[in-house]
Amino acid sequence: MTDIVSTKSYNSINLAEKLSLFSEQWQPKVIAELNEYQFKIVKIEGDFIWHGHVDTDEAFLVIEGILRIDFRDGHVLVNPGELFIVPKGVEHKPYAENEVKMMLIEPRGVLNTGHEDSQRTAQNDIWI
Ligand code: NI
Repeated sequence: MTDIVSTKSYNSINLAEKLSLFSEQWQPKVIAELNEYQFKIVKIEGDFIWHGHVDTDEAFLVIEGILRIDFRDGHVLVNPGELFIVPKGVEHKPYAENEVKMMLIEPRGVLNTGHEDSQRTAQNDIWI
């Protein structure tokens, strides 16, 4: 049997460490990719705009704080450690009374505001 010497390093991605690298809000940062999907972390506080994503579902995994997502016919509160999927095409408006730290999981190229042009529209594909 041959010894295989690997020079590759196997590093896990630490969410708390990644979150400590920035303080700006509403600017999602990519931390990993899975096929065509991206894992992004973001800090938000206050009100987002009404929007929908016509081509994709959107996953919100809350790490810290309480995320409220309003829908035209109701709302959901997503607590730390909880995951919520907004179905494709459903209009939604995230809101955080106090700062929320969370992970978003969605296909590469999805704009945070859907097709709405807004002050809240963030630059895409920023890695941290
Ligand atoms: Ni959205």
